[in-house]
Amino acid sequence: MRPCFHDREASIRSIEGLIRGTDADLLVLPELCTTGYVFSSHEELRSLAEPVPGGITTRALAVLARETNTSLVIGLAELHGNKVYNASVLIDRSGAVVTPTYRKLHLFWDEKDLFTPGDRPPLVHRGERVPVGLMVCFDWAFPEVPRSLALQGADIICHSANLVLPFAQGAAVTRAIENRVFVILANRVGEERQGETCLRFTGQSRVVDPKGRILIESDDTAEEMRVVEIDPALARDKMITPRNHVLEDRRPEMYAGLI
Ligand code: ACM
Repeated sequence: MRPCFHDREASIRSIEGLIRGTDADLLVLPELCTTGYVFSSHEELRSLAEPVPGGITTRALAVLARETNTSLVIGLAELHGNKVYNASVLIDRSGAVVTPTYRKLHLFWDEKDLFTPGDRPPLVHRGERVPVGLMVCFDWAFPEVPRSLALQGADIICHSANLVLPFAQGAAVTRAIENRVFVILANRVGEERQGETCLRFTGQSRVVDPKGRILIESDDTAEEMRVVEIDPALARDKMITPRNHVLEDRRPEMYAGLI
């Protein structure tokens, strides 16, 4: 999708238009899906950020989730005290906003001037029929995030994104293969300008299966809602060969330098 720049009400209307009439168990929306991405200052960002739950975005999308009987994963700017986190939130099909939120751990470029980096580990949500883990955009460059989710038993990793680097979508395939999980990458499209800054977001959202097959892929410029049927249980088969378990064959004692 293309969020309406700095206009949450309009973005919510646009999301409603995309979602109503779509039949799915789980839909994933991009990072910062109601505000847009390019902010000129922390004050500007804060004026569009919201508490979770209780803000305009989660209130509206909780109603939408309940009415459409669809679980939603959405990216938004989460206000907590004076801090703003680049967060991802699961809203289940009953309209419950699942807490805690996931707060983006790895801030990209000028996000470092705007957001507070995430302050809690990635977590798998088990309330739904399928365990899902959340991550946000630039986390793709840090394989520790999906690995940590896979080790906690995630079948599906929901990756809300505003990707700009041309090779980032490829990482979704690698992350799926190396963890034997499904990856749902929801990336926005469109351009945003503010002062000297102009960013073009690269779309190509995709659902990747645990063998790295791209099951569906969306356009790089147009808004699209795509749905595919998957069997999440396939993510529980961690055998890459009959003798290689992708998690149990790890040699953590040899990787002490990682931590
Ligand atoms: C990004 O992390 N939004 C590129």
